[in-house]
Amino acid sequence: MTASAASTSSLGEAFAAAALAAIRAAGLSPAEVHLIASHGQTIHHLPEPGGVGPWPVRATLQIGEPAVIARRTGVLTVGNFRAADVAAGGQGAPLVPYADWVLFGDARAHRAIQNIGGIANVTWLPAGADIHAVAAFDTGPGNMLIDGAVRRLTGGARECDDGGARAATGAPDRDLLAWLMQHPFLQQPPPRTTGREAFGAGFLSEILARAAARGLSEADLLATLTAFTAESIADAYRRWLPGRPDEVILGGGGTRNLTLRRLLAAALPGTRLRTHADFGIPDDAKEAVAFAILGNEALLGVPANVPGATGGQPAVLGQVAFP
Ligand SMILES: Nc1ncnc2c1ncn2[C@@H]1O[C@H](COP(=O)(O)OP(=O)(O)OP(=O)(O)O)[C@@H](O)[C@H]1O
Ligand SMILES: [Mg+2]
Repeated sequence: MTASAASTSSLGEAFAAAALAAIRAAGLSPAEVHLIASHGQTIHHLPEPGGVGPWPVRATLQIGEPAVIARRTGVLTVGNFRAADVAAGGQGAPLVPYADWVLFGDARAHRAIQNIGGIANVTWLPAGADIHAVAAFDTGPGNMLIDGAVRRLTGGARECDDGGARAATGAPDRDLLAWLMQHPFLQQPPPRTTGREAFGAGFLSEILARAAARGLSEADLLATLTAFTAESIADAYRRWLPGRPDEVILGGGGTRNLTLRRLLAAALPGTRLRTHADFGIPDDAKEAVAFAILGNEALLGVPANVPGATGGQPAVLGQVAFP
């Protein structure tokens, strides 16, 4: 047995145990559950053609064996969602926009579903939208720079600016903010994705050097980084969305940063800010709900990739493991 086969099975065991615990906690028995959908853990993702061997290929690999989950729980399990989109010429990500369309599509309001994780990304849902009018792309940094700065300033003692409290005591530095807004990623039209390469440790070091040269206080630095996340989101809407959202529905850990929410509201005048919780979806559960929706579509044979998000041709996503 290879190491990867061993790890994919042990992760499958862990996921099966978690599924059984969740079923019990919901007061159900496995026989009452029709379907388990498991995203798995991504251990490699090659969205652009490349790699070794005779053909340049796109590839994605999630572990956490669905056959083990199905066997241990006795419940039909759908997994490996990304592979079909990649095979259909897509980047295999993001897949949540389909669930955004199902959960939040509205007949009258243009909506933007804004996730603020390490990186921030948006799903655009124009009023009454057909799936082909849905678009999704990364807006820029989410919490990554704020968290990174807090870690460096506290020597690792703190992981984030809890509630945005520290940033609330400072003021954004207009010149540093203007320089941040010139970041090349923000000038790039969608489809686009970003990550640590662009907004990680290297960029943070450059920011800290500039902040020190300007004599900024820690609070002003955090206020500036928080304003950068808010401004880059608002700027992305103005530049790359085909219309103005009537409502923005926030998700991800950045929703807990109240300073970020205040700055975002100021940057988006006339737009109503709401959260997933306002729609009865706990933030922690959003991605689980999204994949349950995708698993259900798999069993119905409905394509659930969003061409305007992944770039793939329509494809039914997921592979079925029988108990
Ligand atoms: N109380 C809080 N105050 C401020 N920020 C918070 C709070 N709680 C969480 N966060 C921020 O949310 C982040 C976690 O958010 P989330 O779980 O959406 O990110 P992720 O899914 O790990 O990232 P990604 O989606 O980019 O992979 C934390 O790293 C932190 O920056
Ligand atoms: Mg996330």
